[in-house]
Amino acid sequence: MSELTMDTLVSLCKRRGFVYQSSEIYGGLTSAWDYGPLGVELKNNIQRFWWKQMTQLHDNIVGLDAAILMHPRVWEASGHVENFHDPLVDCRQCRQRFRTDAIPEELWAKRQCPECGGQLTEPRQFNLMFKTHMGPVEDSSSVVYLRPETAQGIYVNFKNVVQTGRVKVPFGIAQVGKAFRNEITTKNFIFRTCEFEQMEMQFFIHPSEDGKWFDYWKAERFEYYQKLGVRDSRLRFHQHGPDELAHYAKVAFDIQYEFPFGWKELEGIHNRTDFDLRRHGEFSGKDLTYLDDGRGERFTPYVIETSAGLTRTVLTVLCDAYDEDEAEGEKRVVLRLHPAVAPVTVGVFPLVKKDGLAELARDIELGLREEFSTFYDQGGAIGRRYRRQDEVGTPYCITIDYQTKEDRTVTLRFRDSMQQVRIKIEDIPQAIRKATKEYRRV
Ligand code: GAP
Repeated sequence: MSELTMDTLVSLCKRRGFVYQSSEIYGGLTSAWDYGPLGVELKNNIQRFWWKQMTQLHDNIVGLDAAILMHPRVWEASGHVENFHDPLVDCRQCRQRFRTDAIPEELWAKRQCPECGGQLTEPRQFNLMFKTHMGPVEDSSSVVYLRPETAQGIYVNFKNVVQTGRVKVPFGIAQVGKAFRNEITTKNFIFRTCEFEQMEMQFFIHPSEDGKWFDYWKAERFEYYQKLGVRDSRLRFHQHGPDELAHYAKVAFDIQYEFPFGWKELEGIHNRTDFDLRRHGEFSGKDLTYLDDGRGERFTPYVIETSAGLTRTVLTVLCDAYDEDEAEGEKRVVLRLHPAVAPVTVGVFPLVKKDGLAELARDIELGLREEFSTFYDQGGAIGRRYRRQDEVGTPYCITIDYQTKEDRTVTLRFRDSMQQVRIKIEDIPQAIRKATKEYRRV
């Protein structure tokens, strides 16, 4: 296939209802995006997939849904008030603002603006947290922040979960939710936005076992993306050097994906040591240590964190799925999404509307709705209906024709291979389940 460009993807996303620019009728808000009918299905399916893999398939990981707004002291304890900065420079000529790491090295050496060639200022530290006020008075006592990571909601609930969740170290707490960062460089569609969603899991362990558990989660998380159907050749690890490490991390690896604009972070895996629990213990005055009966020891657990961007995973999955090939002598655009996350699982079409085929197709579609996400379409040539579903990644299509009336069989068509098989109506659910379980991207 030809190389995917971001323009092609952005245009497909808009045309087919995956992602729209926020407040578009007012000229749009930079770096904010809305998920349309198909986008929200894809995002929810990815979230569900992550939740299953990271909580329900484990004995020792539980979920949480903490509030976005938290006590402002949380962000002092976490180090975000002091350390969560990006170095920024301004162009004296065109007045644009840039993160220093987003400026090509040769231009940065000359302090030259990447947009207009003008002279850049020296870097200044800029805190990425959004500030707002709670209550009617806008003064320093009413400041609250929109959380820049979901992780802190987990740390401040550590004691609650230990006391009520019947969990024992080693165990994890998982959460999915919105996070906010006042990002300056927000190009590349939904890659880096000011409002985004994270899927984070904090795994609490004995400090002596940090190497073992770090390796375990590193391997698990790489495998997760393979299960999600992302191609191996587009995934790699990147270890953080000393100047890249976040203020809380002892060791960090990113899982990177090769986007059309280069290799970039998709997920971070961090050894956060006892930094967060220790600091919250100090700042709140509450005891956040853990008594391990088995070891006969009290300690502050270390944390291995897996932190994935949900909205960034949506972009990854779309980039990875996009393909072009040929069908019936014409170019075909196809999203090779894993069937487990595709917005529509099965399209159902009557070959023609007349002679009772539409009614029969509707009945079949209604029967499949309970278990699968379905789409009924009776308009236009059958080839065009297949193409429309290929373009949004629908893995299976069922066609009802005259033979269906005679022997109650239908055609099941597979998106990737375009292969068609004849099966009985009652066998459709099992055929879809089996194909989804055995799905491998070719
Ligand atoms: N709790 C650790 C943490 O937040 P991070 O590396 O800053 O670590 C984790 O962020 C993940 O969140 C990233 O790998 C990325 O997928 C996602 N993410 C971070 N900033 C983002 C942004 N501005 N827009 C979209 N996703 C973002």
